[in-house]
Amino acid sequence: MEKLTARDKELIRDSWERLGKNKLPHGTVMFTRLFKLDPGLLRLFHYNTPYSSPEECLSSPEFVDHISKVMLVIDAAVSNLDDLHSLEEYLANLGRKHQAVGVKTQSFTEVGESLLYMLEHSLGPLYTAAVRHAWVTLYGIVVETMISGWTKNGERKAD
Ligand code: HEM
Repeated sequence: MEKLTARDKELIRDSWERLGKNKLPHGTVMFTRLFKLDPGLLRLFHYNTPYSSPEECLSSPEFVDHISKVMLVIDAAVSNLDDLHSLEEYLANLGRKHQAVGVKTQSFTEVGESLLYMLEHSLGPLYTAAVRHAWVTLYGIVVETMISGWTKNGERKAD
């Protein structure tokens, strides 16, 4: 797995900070993109009744809550760039939870594309090739750790 360089970490911290304190609107851009890339993911979010459109999902309080959770996980990764190992257990467990709700590991490709789309959209000219590369590396580490929590039959691995 590729490692983050000191420069990568600097670019990630700086670009994340530039998105401002309220990350929710950026998360909304990310998930709007995700549902465009894979509308089928909508059916995995069934809190009460199934959503009939991405718009309905994106504006429901339960889903907005999920967007906040996603942004908090990214925030935790950015805050722990020097010690991503400390998040390993949490992320593997998070992966297991997503397997349980029906997410396929392949969907993380679209999630990654949506994250990059959001960064490009939100950072404008500050979204350079180096910034992109740094985020691709971080995302790869986070996703690989989440996927390590996936099990063959959905059961918890014996520790
Ligand atoms: C394919 C994209 C995704 C789908 C379909 C999905 C779906 C879900 C669902 C159905 C839940 C349970 C209900 C809820 O808590 O809202 C959930 C929980 C959660 N998701 Fe996702 N999710 C996706 C991506 C992500 C990503 C990329 C992250 C962060 C990196 C994330 C972070 C979380 C967190 C923190 C929870 C709460 C887990 C807990 O209760 O401990 N999700 N997700």
